[in-house]
Amino acid sequence: MNERVAVYPGTFDPITNGHLSIVNRALKIFDKLIIAILNNPHKAPLFTLQERIDMIREVLKGKPEVQVDTFDGLLVDYVVQMKTNVILRGLRALSDFEYEFQMALMNRKLNRDVQSVFLMTDYKWFYTSSTIIKEAASLNGDINGLVPPIVGRKLKEKFGY
Ligand code: PNS
Repeated sequence: MNERVAVYPGTFDPITNGHLSIVNRALKIFDKLIIAILNNPHKAPLFTLQERIDMIREVLKGKPEVQVDTFDGLLVDYVVQMKTNVILRGLRALSDFEYEFQMALMNRKLNRDVQSVFLMTDYKWFYTSSTIIKEAASLNGDINGLVPPIVGRKLKEKFGY
């Protein structure tokens, strides 16, 4: 039987419990998931690419069906290179919708064989994002329960708490 493989792309700066919820639910649909971190030198992430890879690997170490990789260039080209045709994205509040719709349509224009699949985030993670979690953490806010413990510790280290 052909394996069903999805590419889950993003910045993952850092990975959050919202991302993990999407990963765990996607594994009920797909046999294999490739978490693909965009290597974008123009963005200034808080965590280096290697730090983000290490955190994701650590958090998902019990799941051999999840692979962590990086990519640059066009996402659709990377998806084809990985011999699949599915892009997985999580959807949170309505505010995500316009951006995701735009991206999905552009990706479709670039390659009609590649399909974008969306999973609605759990209501628990509806309002969280890596960005807002980083902001709270930078001000020593309590982000317990929003990120895996190892990510919480790394955030504290980064911000010197
Ligand atoms: O987690 P993010 O930052 O919302 O992820 C955005 C990402 C990495 C999925 C998006 O920026 C992307 O796919 N970049 C690769 C470049 C590309 O293919 N652009 C054309 C489609 S819009």
